[in-house]
Amino acid sequence: MKEKGFFISFEGIDGSGKSTQIQRLGKYLETLGFDVIITREPGGSVGGEQIRNLLLQGAVDRWSPETEILLFTASRRDHLERIILPALENGKIVICDRFTDSTRMYQGMRGPSLRKFVELLNEKVIKCNPDLTIIIDINPETGLKRAKSRKTAEERFENFGVDLQMKMRQGFIELSKEFSNRIEVVNGQQSVDKLAQDICTLVKARLS
Ligand code: ADP
Ligand code: TYD
Repeated sequence: MKEKGFFISFEGIDGSGKSTQIQRLGKYLETLGFDVIITREPGGSVGGEQIRNLLLQGAVDRWSPETEILLFTASRRDHLERIILPALENGKIVICDRFTDSTRMYQGMRGPSLRKFVELLNEKVIKCNPDLTIIIDINPETGLKRAKSRKTAEERFENFGVDLQMKMRQGFIELSKEFSNRIEVVNGQQSVDKLAQDICTLVKARLS
């Protein structure tokens, strides 16, 4: 679906430092002269953000896994149609905080048939992969401590606890092997500056 521009997604468990690094990368790419847009999932478009509120607030069992996958996919489709694809069409670099790999992990790992359901919707409804995905790998205890210090109402998934985040961390590493052509894993336990340096170096290499 996309031919121009460059699409980068950031992934990792909650509190891994995605938002911090996305801001740093965005500024760096602008200094190189690129036109950059920063966006996030779930959300990113007006409709996507409305669906975000349904997804991230409330009780952990508010939605069945299947309904949740449909809501994430609806939010993503709207975001793609209205924000991501038009920006790529205009030759911009799109940096997105989470994309389909989060659905593969957070929803797909909750049952044997669910990952297949995510893949099916991805193939039929989303039809778009990032050019580059950066997974920030971090110890779940550090990640949760950082995430909890933010105190927002969006705690549905953070309340899943350390055990699930541990499985998710492992799952993200496995994904990086499954999609090794587009996924790079970086070490999130480093200082903000050192990690930013690593990320800028690898993105610059991909862009050239
Ligand atoms: P995410 O978007 O992955 O949830 P954030 O970038 O919002 O993560 O970071 C979560 C918290 O951790 C923030 O308070 C941020 O300032 C802090 N933080 C981010 N990166 C680091 C780092 N490398 N070392 C220490 N603290 C960090
Ligand atoms: P985010 O705002 O990135 O949270 P954090 O900054 O804590 O990493 O994402 C919100 C939550 O939504 C996060 O806990 C992961 C979850 N999520 C899914 O479960 N499935 C998805 O497809 C996406 C995009 C996010």
